[in-house]
Amino acid sequence: MLKKVAILANGGDVSGFNAVIRAIVKTAENHNIECYGYIDGYNGLLKNDYVLLSTAGNGDAKGILAKGGSIIGSSTNSNVFNYKIKNEDGTIEYKDLSDVCIQNIKEAGFDCIFTLGGDGTQKSARDFATKGVNVIGVPKTIDNDVACTEITFGYNTAVSVAMEAIDRLHTTGETHHRIMVLEVMGRYAGWIALESAIAGGADVALIPEIPYDINKVATKIENRKKRGKEFSIVVVAEGAKPINGDITIMGKRDNGAGVDNTKLGGVGQVVAKQLEELTGLEARNTTLGYMQRGGSPTAFDRVLSTKYGVKAMQLALEGKFGTLAVIKNGKLDYALLEDVVGNNKQIGAVSGNTEESNIRKVTMDNDLIITARNIGINLGD
Ligand code: F6P
Repeated sequence: MLKKVAILANGGDVSGFNAVIRAIVKTAENHNIECYGYIDGYNGLLKNDYVLLSTAGNGDAKGILAKGGSIIGSSTNSNVFNYKIKNEDGTIEYKDLSDVCIQNIKEAGFDCIFTLGGDGTQKSARDFATKGVNVIGVPKTIDNDVACTEITFGYNTAVSVAMEAIDRLHTTGETHHRIMVLEVMGRYAGWIALESAIAGGADVALIPEIPYDINKVATKIENRKKRGKEFSIVVVAEGAKPINGDITIMGKRDNGAGVDNTKLGGVGQVVAKQLEELTGLEARNTTLGYMQRGGSPTAFDRVLSTKYGVKAMQLALEGKFGTLAVIKNGKLDYALLEDVVGNNKQIGAVSGNTEESNIRKVTMDNDLIITARNIGINLGD
């Protein structure tokens, strides 16, 4: 019998966090289960900082379906299994504080913890499950790269924002006969770039999975010019890299130990400059950045997030812990957290941002690749 459960939202924010929280709370309330929320992801779990979530009266979880961000915050640097501690003398050390978290869960009397997040978040969730905590994950990330599910919440909103940007770049690009480059997010997977390029009618999409040859991109643009089209739209994923080259790095971020702390960015600018030189056309870059993560979710993401929240609570009611709510063959389902973040390469996943993790990348037989190629979108190869 479940009596008390808690939600934590972790990792970079996405549109749809609140819609998932609302759905879990509502389903819990329908089963007379109290639902709480940890503040700022795993940091809240460590600091024992949580609030009651309710859709009744002036409850926090009321009226949040359309709201961006997360009403309980989220953390991008709170790996409690390898937690960064700054000592008084300024030295830094890393400690496994997971037992403190487990003690906190026991004292609070939570029967299940819902972990809303991407592969890093679910890796910690898997580790808590291994230590006997009842955990259920919900797959989040705008990059759409969580293994074992066909779609993550937040992704569709990011694609829609990118599509609108492409629409706007089209009119300005056409007016001034320019190459308009749009840099979108996507560290290891090019889903956002590829899908928004199709949705927005772009001419080129460069993704991390296909190292690009800039000369081939220039040829595509020149061929368009020969046919009287003196402007082109190029969508570039932040993690795209040239053949025999490296990803473009902006600097470092501090997202904790065991994760990739490179801050990506700048490839759009590089590509724009090279295309200008190669084609003689003027080129401009726009970097979409965090616009893709903020704001209200699309109708699709509101529904997907609600479905995921309900499924997660159902899994808890069925006692199916150590799992992730997923979409498989278009339907709600679940996968073992071990398959999601473990070293299981049988599931079509490829190595991700930690040595052990699985990331769902775009594969060359994916419908989006086939569609893009058939309508003449150049993929840089
Ligand atoms: O993983 C989602 C993502 O938005 C990536 O596309 C991007 O590289 C990264 O997060 C940025 O994260 P941060 O919030 O640490 O800047």
